[in-house]
Amino acid sequence: MDNNIPKHVAIIMDGNGRWATNRGLKRSEGHKQGSKTLEKLAIYAINSGVKYLSVYAFSTDNFKRTKEEVDYLMNLFILMFKTKFKKIDKENIKVVFSGRKEPLNKDVLEAMNIITEKTKNNTKGTLNICLNYGGQEEIVDASKKIIEDVNDGKVNAQDIDKELFYKYLYQDLPPIDLLIRTSGEYRVSNFMLYQMSYSEFYFTDVLFPDFDENEFNKAIDSFNSRERRFGKNK
Ligand code: FPP
Repeated sequence: MDNNIPKHVAIIMDGNGRWATNRGLKRSEGHKQGSKTLEKLAIYAINSGVKYLSVYAFSTDNFKRTKEEVDYLMNLFILMFKTKFKKIDKENIKVVFSGRKEPLNKDVLEAMNIITEKTKNNTKGTLNICLNYGGQEEIVDASKKIIEDVNDGKVNAQDIDKELFYKYLYQDLPPIDLLIRTSGEYRVSNFMLYQMSYSEFYFTDVLFPDFDENEFNKAIDSFNSRERRFGKNK
């Protein structure tokens, strides 16, 4: 593998349901397996030199799924953040969240708070978990915060530019270098729209629970084979 490791990698973790259905299992088993894959992958990616890993755990639209599936996922998040993420902490990884609080219940918010507090001084890399997240919602929420600051005299409207806008997003993260989507879907699905303006995209048919270290390295190799021009000439 080449040494050029992207600083910010984002993953749309898709295909958990199909992974389970293909095995005659309940969809929830796919999510459980996906959570194990995520834990391993986050540790591997950050130990490989990725500084920021953003993952799409639950979109604002995922509340439209069956109550059974939403409840399962919320309980899985609680379990992961309260107990299973010990390894993530030991590995010196900081966990942050992006998304709206409403309508997450207090147990989920509490679990998110616990892992955020526990890992806040970790320095090897950051795992940004997008939960109850929407990219358009993030831009709307950031705009409202800027308007508030302009009205309060804290920001001059003339000073609003692309860089300042980043500071108003849910987390102050750098632009995404590489966006990965698993499971053979070719959509962006309202994920981190502001941060992906110059991202390289990598799509794979592999279902997320099977997206292991080897598959991750393939994505990095693909990233390294590309020439990024950021709008410039060759
Ligand atoms: C998409 O697959 C996946 C999700 C909506 C949930 C992602 C959640 C995890 C990987 C679980 C663990 C996460 C954390 C943060 C602990 P899908 O259900 O849409 O799959 P399908 O397209 O095959 O139905």
